[in-house]
Amino acid sequence: MTTAAHVVELRDVHKQFEEKNVLNGVSLVVNPLDRFVIMGQSGSGKSTILRLILGILPLEAGQIFFKQFEITRLNPRKLQQIRRHIGMVHQYSALLSSLTVCENVALPLEELTDKSNAEIKEIVESKLELVGMNDACNQLPSELSGGMRKRVSLARALVMDPELILFDEPTAGLDPVISSVIDELIISLAEKHKVSSVIVTHEMESAFRIGTRMAMLYQGKIIAQGKPEEIKKSRDPVVAQFLSGSTQGPILEGTPDAIPA
Ligand SMILES: Nc1ncnc2c1ncn2[C@@H]1O[C@H](COP(=O)(O)OP(=O)(O)OP(=O)(O)O)[C@@H](O)[C@H]1O
Ligand SMILES: [Mg+2]
Repeated sequence: MTTAAHVVELRDVHKQFEEKNVLNGVSLVVNPLDRFVIMGQSGSGKSTILRLILGILPLEAGQIFFKQFEITRLNPRKLQQIRRHIGMVHQYSALLSSLTVCENVALPLEELTDKSNAEIKEIVESKLELVGMNDACNQLPSELSGGMRKRVSLARALVMDPELILFDEPTAGLDPVISSVIDELIISLAEKHKVSSVIVTHEMESAFRIGTRMAMLYQGKIIAQGKPEEIKKSRDPVVAQFLSGSTQGPILEGTPDAIPA
């Protein structure tokens, strides 16, 4: 086992659901402190990539590494240990509706550690403070706005002091101002706590605000990968169409959504 420079690496990953090839040879490298953005159309397999990194889905072929650990080869006990170092912010926040904000945030600590109640309370309070939600401790998720739920979900992802955080559409469904606030929060937390992150999004403004490196997923493959300025300059017609949001170009060709030129 060698010491790895990357935090996450996917090598030639293939993933099928029934007959459908969702990932068809995906390779990418996330380096330490990267805020690595994965862009792509709805249904292109972005959430699938995050689930594969977490080791909660099997794959057909290829390899996935978290640091020096090959996720796809770990036994369940080891995988469970590794997962403690990875925080996840789900696409729809995924807070438990019957638990208060504080109970939701405390959950990973209660399930995965033997910390005392006093220690847990202290950690929960400090993480809620980081995301500006310390006044909401006793509220239920249903009493919060979408942006507030995202913050709580972010606090929950931070309680185990992860080395890597996976964000699935962190700003989906939020208004533009709150989206910017969440983006800034992601950036400042990542910088302050020296965590690496993978952010899945199809919102271009967010992608370019947050990303230090980015990749574009299309038809099961990464068709462009690099720094934001490199992606912006890409001559690939699919990348260009995605960035501009144009209805003209290869993305809709041959689909029922295509608009005649
Ligand atoms: N558990 C599953 N069983 C069967 N098919 C699945 C499963 N999970 C995902 N898929 C299919 O795989 C494809 C990719 O799904 P995925 O959720 O990764 O897309 P996405 O890029 O995250 O989309 P969105 O932007 O809408 O969230 C879709 O066609 C989806 O229907
Ligand atoms: Mg998704």
